[in-house]
Amino acid sequence: MPSQKAYYITTPIYYVNAKPHLGHTYTTIACDSMARHNRFLGKDVFFLTGTDEHGDKIVKAAAKEGKEPDMYTTRISALFRAAWEELHISHNHFIRTTDANHKKNVQNILQKIYEKGDIYLSEYEGKYCTGCERYLTDKELTEDGLCPDHRIAPEIIKEKNYFFRMQKYLTGWLDTLKKNPDIIRPERYYKEAVATAEELLQMGEDLSISRPKSRLTWGIELPFDTEYVTYVWFDALLNYVSGVDYPDGENYAKFWPVAHHMIAKDILKPHGIYWPTMLLAADIPVYRKLVVHGYWLGWGDMKMSKSLDNALDPHTLLEKIGEDNLRYFLMREMVFGNDSRFTEEALQLRINTDLSNDLGNLAQRTLSMVKKYQNGSLQTSGEHHPVESTFREISQLAGKNFLELMESYAVSRALEEIFKISRAANSAIEEYKPWEMAKRSEPNLGVFLSSLIKGIIFLMLYLRPFLPNKTTVFLQMLHVDPHAPYPSSLDDIILPDRIPESWEILFPRLELE
Ligand code: MSP
Repeated sequence: MPSQKAYYITTPIYYVNAKPHLGHTYTTIACDSMARHNRFLGKDVFFLTGTDEHGDKIVKAAAKEGKEPDMYTTRISALFRAAWEELHISHNHFIRTTDANHKKNVQNILQKIYEKGDIYLSEYEGKYCTGCERYLTDKELTEDGLCPDHRIAPEIIKEKNYFFRMQKYLTGWLDTLKKNPDIIRPERYYKEAVATAEELLQMGEDLSISRPKSRLTWGIELPFDTEYVTYVWFDALLNYVSGVDYPDGENYAKFWPVAHHMIAKDILKPHGIYWPTMLLAADIPVYRKLVVHGYWLGWGDMKMSKSLDNALDPHTLLEKIGEDNLRYFLMREMVFGNDSRFTEEALQLRINTDLSNDLGNLAQRTLSMVKKYQNGSLQTSGEHHPVESTFREISQLAGKNFLELMESYAVSRALEEIFKISRAANSAIEEYKPWEMAKRSEPNLGVFLSSLIKGIIFLMLYLRPFLPNKTTVFLQMLHVDPHAPYPSSLDDIILPDRIPESWEILFPRLELE
């Protein structure tokens, strides 16, 4: 039985033909937020990321710099590692497809499938996009015959190659898909995967999984024919099992049964079709879930990418707006599954409205009132105030909805839901006007203000996966353990006797030129 207490999350392993950009950063931060969230749920989490280093396009990128592929890949892979370190990404392992144990795994699995008779030699002619590193069908091309993502015409390639009998496993995979619609989320990508599987079944084609060494040497050699190297996807996808020490590692036994892959829609076909059929052929159980998000669009409303030269540099953005602001904007602005446009106006509006106004001002005002009217003391006993029970209900419901939405990767909606607490707190301040309660020396002002503080702590505890730094500062200031599990009710929150004499402004307004 797979443990309910374990969770395995993976990013795609990124190509090292360019340094990391905002698109890669989004997926990595989304996985990091899910990893942190599951740790707060008390699960044992394994979070894998890494780099995809073989194949044509890497060789071309290295040649452009006048470098050998191994030197070049080591340099760019280190840039990804450094970018994730700068962002304090909490991955447990960083895999490279040039790692020795991964290469051994790829060869062992190829050999196993070959011995089963599911790999054969044949000739094929097709339209190959080097950007996607796969053959595209006519249906996938634009009206002008271009790859829709890379805007280049695919090359016609005709050669003898080894093929994987994907057809043999497609029907089984389609059956599994039909019985488990939740396996690919959101629904539109599930439907797309089903349609692609049906189309491939109709076309009857298998998957070419090798490249002759006469054309490409930068790859893993086929164990049964040294004249060929493995096709880059057959190598890359296997990182997900190598990363947890397939076949006999403890991590493999514990985490593979709870594997969750996150990708963008560009690589749905390799993950939604090639990968599960490969797994079935290798007698490895199929992943638990594939979650798919849309594109960040850059200049010209096109997918942000190196090849279109419209991608943003995460390092520049980080220096400009800070880690928590960047994380929050990316997670809140993009509705998981849809495309999203990145603009400075949207960035400024989102940070200033949600973080500076709704949350930051609320914390600031409430702490100031505790200082001014209660001499800094937090009073939990005393005369009741109706806000106590209203807040208890609102936060309990928001917390419950947040957890459900996170379970289905509706990250932006989960954030929207939990922010209902700050909205309720701000409305309560407007409604009850604590400054007037103070003038009238009302005896339940202390309880009113303490309830607000409890609500803010509750909210901050739920925001930890997204704002790890700011929430820690706030929670530590009020002597709340930043590693505590999520509270299910306001009653789980224990207030300190007093607030500190002074505190820093948590969410200053963002003023971009
Ligand atoms: N190497 C393959 C993946 C192999 S996984 C076994 C690859 N690499 S990639 O560098 O092109 O990364 C693609 C992934 O980067 C996307 O699926 C997505 O996670 C992220 N993104 C790259 N550009 C993006 C956007 N413009 N918007 C959103 N995500 C983007 O494909």
